[in-house]
Amino acid sequence: MSPHISADTLNFPNGLPTGYRRLAKEPTFDAQKHLQLEQPGETISLNSLGYTKADLRECPSMFGVCSAFRILSDAGIEVMLDLCHKMYSNRNSSLGTGNNRLGSYIRGAGYRSQFVRDFCDSPELAEHLSNLAGTPLARHSVPAVACGINYAPEDISRAVDSWHTDSVSFDVVMMVSDPSNLDGGEFQYFSGTKHEGEQLLGVKAEHGGTADLPDERVTTIEFPKAGYGFMQQGNMIFHRACKLNQRAERITMIPSFVVTPSTANDATNSINMSAWDDPGIITELARHEAWRSAARLNELVDDLQLNDNHDMVIEKLEQALKPLLSFHENLKNTGDNNA
Ligand SMILES: [Fe+2]
Repeated sequence: MSPHISADTLNFPNGLPTGYRRLAKEPTFDAQKHLQLEQPGETISLNSLGYTKADLRECPSMFGVCSAFRILSDAGIEVMLDLCHKMYSNRNSSLGTGNNRLGSYIRGAGYRSQFVRDFCDSPELAEHLSNLAGTPLARHSVPAVACGINYAPEDISRAVDSWHTDSVSFDVVMMVSDPSNLDGGEFQYFSGTKHEGEQLLGVKAEHGGTADLPDERVTTIEFPKAGYGFMQQGNMIFHRACKLNQRAERITMIPSFVVTPSTANDATNSINMSAWDDPGIITELARHEAWRSAARLNELVDDLQLNDNHDMVIEKLEQALKPLLSFHENLKNTGDNNA
């Protein structure tokens, strides 16, 4: 097996993207000591939000979103909060990830912190989340989204993150700072489909929108304390983090996951993410698409049959290569974000 591919996902590439700094001294992540994985009290399915069978054809499971459950132990919370403070000065400097979104964040925290990387990579966490999601998951193969951190914006009149869907299939939002000190800053999801959300706000879900959705259809996730997080099928759940009413520390960690095996349907939107200006993002996305395409091509070697006709062979080749070629075509047609 290639040294770049672990059992279930891609290893981080060698080296560091320009400007990212590795933390000097860190505790070693120990799942026994730092994790405290518990079950959520409530799980909401995608069909209960109004999605139809046709909408769900590409979804790997019916799991939609759940209430917050405990992820980190007290010892885990203490280390994670300290590391988030230490990485703050090295957060990404770019503005938002879409047309209407603005925040203060770190993408690719696993480059800066080995503890964070090992937490996101932990087999115990992946197994727990896979059971919850009803489909096998592994740490996301694109390091930028494998372990993100959101901080409250400097200007609290702005939302921490406006209404949007994510560019990945599954992600966790975990409170790292103490939520009991917060006035505002709630995490909310829309009890409906993303199509309805888009229509109500007049925006594309992945680009986000700052207007309000009807109160009676908005659910707020309660975080009992730091170290609790919830999971969502991020590309299907319309969600936001509200603005703070008073300046306060609000730090969340957002580990993302890919659906496995590497031949499985996965909603990672490489084209959308290729517009981000993170250093290294294009290479990260190209590796992801190359990895998934290679797996589909390998499967195709067995799947192609001698009696497949001309059109069937074309169709099978297209299915195996389409995401990679679309990504490649889009790259050729767009400028260099870091030029
Ligand atoms: Fe999100």
